[in-house]
Amino acid sequence: MCGIIGYVGSQQAVDVVMDGLRRLEYRGYDSAGVALVSSGELYAAKRAGKLANLDEALSQDPLPRATTGIGHTRWATHGAPNDVNAHPHTDSADRVAVIHNGIIENFAELRAGLEALGHDLLSETDTEIVAHLLGEALPQHGDDLAAAMRAVTSHLEGAFTLVAVATADPHTVVAARRSSPLVVGLGNGENFVASDVSAFIAHTRDALELGQDQVVEVTSDTVTITDFAGRPAEAVAYHVDWDASAAEKGGYQWFMLKEIDEQPRAIADTLLGRTSPDGRLQLDEVRLSEEELREVDKVIIIACGTAFYSGLVAKYAIEHWTRVPCEVELASEFRYRDPVLDRQTLVVAISQSGETMDTLMAIRYARAQNARVLAICNTNGSTIPRESDAVIYTRAGPEIAVASTKGFLSQIVACYLLGLYLAQVRGTKYGDEIATIMAQLQEVPAAVQRVLDGAEQVRALARDLADSPSVLFLGRHTGFPVALEGALKLKELAYLHAEGFAAGELKHGPIALVQEGLPVFVIVPPRGRDALHGKVVSNIQEVRARGARTIVLAEEGDPTVLAYADEVIRLPQVPTLMQPLVATVPLQVFACEVATVLGHDVDQPRNLAKSVTVE
Ligand code: AGP
Repeated sequence: MCGIIGYVGSQQAVDVVMDGLRRLEYRGYDSAGVALVSSGELYAAKRAGKLANLDEALSQDPLPRATTGIGHTRWATHGAPNDVNAHPHTDSADRVAVIHNGIIENFAELRAGLEALGHDLLSETDTEIVAHLLGEALPQHGDDLAAAMRAVTSHLEGAFTLVAVATADPHTVVAARRSSPLVVGLGNGENFVASDVSAFIAHTRDALELGQDQVVEVTSDTVTITDFAGRPAEAVAYHVDWDASAAEKGGYQWFMLKEIDEQPRAIADTLLGRTSPDGRLQLDEVRLSEEELREVDKVIIIACGTAFYSGLVAKYAIEHWTRVPCEVELASEFRYRDPVLDRQTLVVAISQSGETMDTLMAIRYARAQNARVLAICNTNGSTIPRESDAVIYTRAGPEIAVASTKGFLSQIVACYLLGLYLAQVRGTKYGDEIATIMAQLQEVPAAVQRVLDGAEQVRALARDLADSPSVLFLGRHTGFPVALEGALKLKELAYLHAEGFAAGELKHGPIALVQEGLPVFVIVPPRGRDALHGKVVSNIQEVRARGARTIVLAEEGDPTVLAYADEVIRLPQVPTLMQPLVATVPLQVFACEVATVLGHDVDQPRNLAKSVTVE
């Protein structure tokens, strides 16, 4: 998620804006920029890299004094993190500057339309088209920036927060939001707009939370809010009583909690813009031709930790949809086992950070063996996608907590997109079958939200079980990697012994671990796969008969588990392959709450780093 601030008042705008961007640095970014309006002119500076680069540019070539300005820290989605793609973006005549957080789903067709009108677009971003559209709309709306913004938003599809300034309206900042955060800071003779309150709580703690599809026009002493049609609208006023640290976390105690709650958005954003107007899947960063993908006769997924588990989930879908054999390997093991690779092998490297050395070394090995490499990554421009033949970016936004949550779910979604794309180009799924599965994926954010709404049950269970010396997790089919991930979360956050098993393996040894009172989580598959469902219910009986305390994750309406469950955590009814996306969430919440009860630093667990850049 990008960091956004707009200011209009009596202070030096560049100082207020740069200070605000510094307070937004925690969000993660790869470039930054500012734009000011002064004496009827627009002035801008932007640099790739950290704010220090922009500070250096501003000290070498100071911008003029101004009391209206905007600033942006960019987390790249469309286009590499470089100076040209950094925000703000301006129109051809340098009359309007705009910054943006989100994804404009129909930017390709809008870009084509502008280029057909002779516009020269300099960047790879979706944002730049908004600057040009505003430049076109301004004179059509009497140079009223708010009216021009409303007109432009009617053309946009996707999720966006837009903030703009214009030379024609020099004492105004205008912002618009759809499905992306925007707050207004109410000062004394000055006002602010920002992606979150941490940007301006040094100046004011009185804020307005804007609603969906709203435009706000801010001057030094007025705030005017309308809907996209121009009708007056209301916003929710509140007083921010968080300290700066809590503000960075959006009021959450941990970044992890914030990121768990961001999962519906992360999934929705990862799905945005993946279908062309004719309904076919389009993966714009996949730089492998359809012919090359048709030649693939084996997929090998390589990753580490939680990313490895997302690969284990993906295997079930990729093989089911494409009938191509799919292996999943730990990156740290891959190149030492002398794997069989050739030009027809598609190696898929999954990495949230894009910098994990084990995974990076594995893809270098794979490319040396002439295999094609596709990265699934959350960090635009990081090393692993740069060294891959193709990439699918997840759009979870910066993941600050060491324990991966929204990164994991968005990795599964991106793997599913890859599987469906392979099925599309290889013809193993008809277009309508792919559309059905895409529709199922589109339903997942709401299903995840329902799980989050019921999380208090899980937190209470965590408080009750926090002193357990050991916890087991069982699952079958796609529930098996979910069990592994649930165990990893508990290990890395609560420092407890925890193990995930394939439920069918119980009788081959692990059942010896089961003793009176041992908590055992069991992920029960949807009833659509009766062969699986019945077997897992039997597994619950086996451990319960030996004294386990059974915590059963089962879909709503499944009565068969009641007889054997000490606790039932209900999951929304979703298709089998979608269940990992909802079943994982209670396990994330459980581990986070146990760690909190035990007094651990949830965001920075002992001995761990967010990105393991050593082998
Ligand atoms: C996840 O909770 C862990 N922090 C860790 O296993 C992580 O998934 C692994 O190190 C891989 O990181 P990456 O996705 O950035 O490559």
